[in-house]
Amino acid sequence: TRIFIPKDIAALAVGANKVVARIEAEARARGLSVEIIRTGSRGAYFLEPLVEVETAEGRIGYGPIAASEVGALFDAGFINGGAHARRIGKPEEHPFFARQNRLTFARCGIIDPVSLSDYAAHGGWRGLLRAIEIGPAATIAEMTKSGLRGRGGAGFPTGIKWKTVADAPADRRYVVCNFDEGDSGTFADRMIVEGDPFSLIEGMTICAVAIGATKGYVYCRSEYPHAAKTFSQALVLARQAGYLGSNIKGSEHNFDIEIRMGAGAYVCGEETALLESLEGKRGIVRAKPPLPAHKGLFQRPTVVNNVLSLVAAPTILDRGAEFYASFGVGRSRGTMPLQIAGNVRYGGLFETAFGLTLGEIVEEIGGGTASGRPVRAVQCGGPLGAYFPRALFDTPFDYEAFAARDGLIGHGGLVIFDDTVDMARMARFAMEFCAVESCGKCTPCRIGSTRGVEVVDRVIGGVKTEENLALLEDLCQTMKFGSLCALGGFAPYPVLSALHHFREDFAPPALAAE
Ligand code: NAI
Ligand code: SF4
Repeated sequence: TRIFIPKDIAALAVGANKVVARIEAEARARGLSVEIIRTGSRGAYFLEPLVEVETAEGRIGYGPIAASEVGALFDAGFINGGAHARRIGKPEEHPFFARQNRLTFARCGIIDPVSLSDYAAHGGWRGLLRAIEIGPAATIAEMTKSGLRGRGGAGFPTGIKWKTVADAPADRRYVVCNFDEGDSGTFADRMIVEGDPFSLIEGMTICAVAIGATKGYVYCRSEYPHAAKTFSQALVLARQAGYLGSNIKGSEHNFDIEIRMGAGAYVCGEETALLESLEGKRGIVRAKPPLPAHKGLFQRPTVVNNVLSLVAAPTILDRGAEFYASFGVGRSRGTMPLQIAGNVRYGGLFETAFGLTLGEIVEEIGGGTASGRPVRAVQCGGPLGAYFPRALFDTPFDYEAFAARDGLIGHGGLVIFDDTVDMARMARFAMEFCAVESCGKCTPCRIGSTRGVEVVDRVIGGVKTEENLALLEDLCQTMKFGSLCALGGFAPYPVLSALHHFREDFAPPALAAE
């Protein structure tokens, strides 16, 4: 009997390896033959460790399973899909999965991440082979037509970025994958690299074919050693199978990928600081222009794309631009892997077409807070994203709708807070975070964030409240418009949203000690 158990780091953190050991021991003791296959996670973290068993009617899931429950699972006949309190039935029919549109994460949690045959059997490499067949110009046209926008957060059209690089005259070009996933509450990049690393290799190779790059780099955040290990294994296998290296699959394209580890600076997720770091220098933001698309890594035209943008490419090439663009609303086409985190009942990754409202995501999919208290605020788009109050829960999840309400969807992270949250402290945290992570190149961010902490402290302390709040607004405007990059430029979003939507948490003027 085949049993599937994730080796995703989040599943390991809640005891997946202990469950594996117990299943092996129990099976031995009972004289049963089982084959355990380690997969990535399907992303329903509230069900981890999720144990799936292959039965005549398909895979049947049980979760979350503690090692101490394994004996009872065997007693219940789970090997044949038997009844048990933790039985969830077929995972794809579970409410958390049934509502999703799994395009990018279609294989994640299902296949063995480092099995080339599993990858190929589930549609792998078809996008790359099509890109090679139709050639660079048609591949770029397909990406543009799909409407895919940069999933790192800024939402710049991916096809146009690729075309800019392809058209820039150069002796060599690069593909750089931004895997410095630093946003609070986000884990989509990590999950796909741990659960389906060949899809990133395929996406980067499609990009290389399209723009004529011979070398690619994956810049991995230092906190992801487990993902880096899986990705490195996948690189070796892909090379052996001829999907990387010289004359990929008999074509004239030569391309290889190297993985490089960051050292923990949030700002190295900013593309130009990332390039500096890749070049072996200190991670300081470069002035733009020139754009990396014109002068990027080692001053050569470079595509810098987030993991999620690159892993969308195989689906787009394989199933066609129209198919991908048929999901979504307005100018937000395709799907977005939402990452629902914080104080939430059903936390995890939920891939869906754009257009669900924030309320649906938080209340229906996330099931409200884990604490059982009312949801008060949701921070969307990482530590530099705005806090949304319940009054804005009708906002549809799309780039423009969020921007119209002074927010951003960013990388798709949602961090949920209940009614015990103190929003003035959250505003202070945003300024403090900016001060700690600032690269120091420009004044509004370097000095402004430190002054920002002091001003919020005065407000919290009830000192000249109105005067200091006006100063805070003014400082935020200066940081927003005067900063060189998004770190200083976006730190005002959480601050101002906290102030505008949760004014009652900032010392009331009547009580202020003037
Ligand atoms: P940006 O808007 O300056 O640029 C977006 C991308 O488009 C860049 O790669 C840029 O080089 C490219 N681009 C812009 N104009 C172009 C043109 N005419 N031709 C070709 N390429 C062009 O935004 P930025 O500063 O790169 O990113 C800010 C975003 O990063 C924020 O929206 C935030 O959500 C996100 N972010 C994501 C994090 C994560 O962990 N994924 C962490 C922090 C911020
Ligand atoms: Fe550096 Fe901050 Fe200026 Fe960005 S905004 S360049 S992080 S000092």
